[in-house]
Amino acid sequence: MAEKSLPFNTQQLESIIEEYGSPFHIYDEGAIRENARKLIDAFSWAPEFKEYFAVKATPNPYILKVLREEGFGADCSSLAELILAEKARIFDENIMFTSNNTPLNEYNKALELGAIINLDDFSHIDYLDKNVGLPKILSFRYNPGRLRDGGNAIIGKPADAKYGLTKDQIFEAYRIAQEKGVERFGIHTMIISNELDAKYFIETATMMFKLIGEIYEKLGIRIEFVNLGGGIGIPYRPEQEPVNLDIVSQGIKKAYDKFIVEKGLDPLKIAMESGRMILGPYGYLVTKVLHKKEIYKNYVGVDACMANLMRPALYGAYHHITVMGKEDWPCDYIYDVTGGLCENNDKFAIDRALPRMDVDDIVVIHDAGAHGHAMGFNYNGKLRSAELLLKEDGSVELIRRAETLEDLFATLDFAGLED
Ligand SMILES: Cc1ncc(COP(=O)(O)O)c(C=O)c1O
Repeated sequence: MAEKSLPFNTQQLESIIEEYGSPFHIYDEGAIRENARKLIDAFSWAPEFKEYFAVKATPNPYILKVLREEGFGADCSSLAELILAEKARIFDENIMFTSNNTPLNEYNKALELGAIINLDDFSHIDYLDKNVGLPKILSFRYNPGRLRDGGNAIIGKPADAKYGLTKDQIFEAYRIAQEKGVERFGIHTMIISNELDAKYFIETATMMFKLIGEIYEKLGIRIEFVNLGGGIGIPYRPEQEPVNLDIVSQGIKKAYDKFIVEKGLDPLKIAMESGRMILGPYGYLVTKVLHKKEIYKNYVGVDACMANLMRPALYGAYHHITVMGKEDWPCDYIYDVTGGLCENNDKFAIDRALPRMDVDDIVVIHDAGAHGHAMGFNYNGKLRSAELLLKEDGSVELIRRAETLEDLFATLDFAGLED
């Protein structure tokens, strides 16, 4: 079977485990920076191209700092994510606030930071206006409904997804916002997740460019930026190919020339808010084999569980597994690789062909850099693991310590139980 590459070897991992214990997530700073530069480079033709990293994918301020240094902004969807962006010194229009069913305190924080607010619903124009007043710049999230197919388990088909405004609502929204004094406008959509077909992103951009033309024709409003969302997939399986960003970019440029430049609607800033393709392949969940169990199937129990990486349990997602030191061994054993939760879906792999595994083997679960640690939870009192940054000089920095039982019990007052 094809192997995926790793930025560390067995000895390095052994010494990292000795210092920090296991399991942990480790992110490869050099590869993150290189990939960030590739994205910016691919869109160098676009006026002021901006990637607002989807903080929800990897909400760690040290990661945000690395990305800020590469020129990225932050896409935030909650109060906590806004605070993380602030801690990483990302402010003003370098933050895009794309939330839904949003409480007032979150809008307040977004406005305090000078973030661009991207409204998810028509009714929120009034909600924002009545409670805090409308900002001078405003964006709306468009949901094309039945006008667009696609969608998947992660985000749903557009017509069934809870996000955004309908096509009719979107025209009315810009008209009302302008009437109420908004001066600058953006538009946003996000209708697909983990898509590997470049065509899809070009079609989405084309749909948005046409809509921007219609908004101008109907309302005379010039849209200043379009945010094409995230959703760029990554090759979780070794035989899959990554999305070719140059093909996406050149396809979008062709549509831009036709539907924006030729109609005199340029410059239009192009933004994206990817998470997975920015961090996913550059984060690894490192864990060790705790036990082996042989009943009707063969199980290998590791010291990580669904609390560290939920995607396999949640979506049946494939994550490649490397057993360190056994990369060249034949994959002639079939295992379920499990965590220790009292949930039968707490498995990182089902019926996976792997080399023979033994207690204490170091196991690396690939592509865990986005929507990995972030989705952690504390069911069964399991604790979330540490996050480490493998720096460009080869050193390792602890960027989030592991949770302790004291953290878990911090919201309980045991003193109230005393007789
Ligand atoms: C509004 C929004 N933007 C961006 C993202 C990032 O998506 P991805 O990590 O697939 O690029 C998400 C993912 O849930 C999202 O909901």
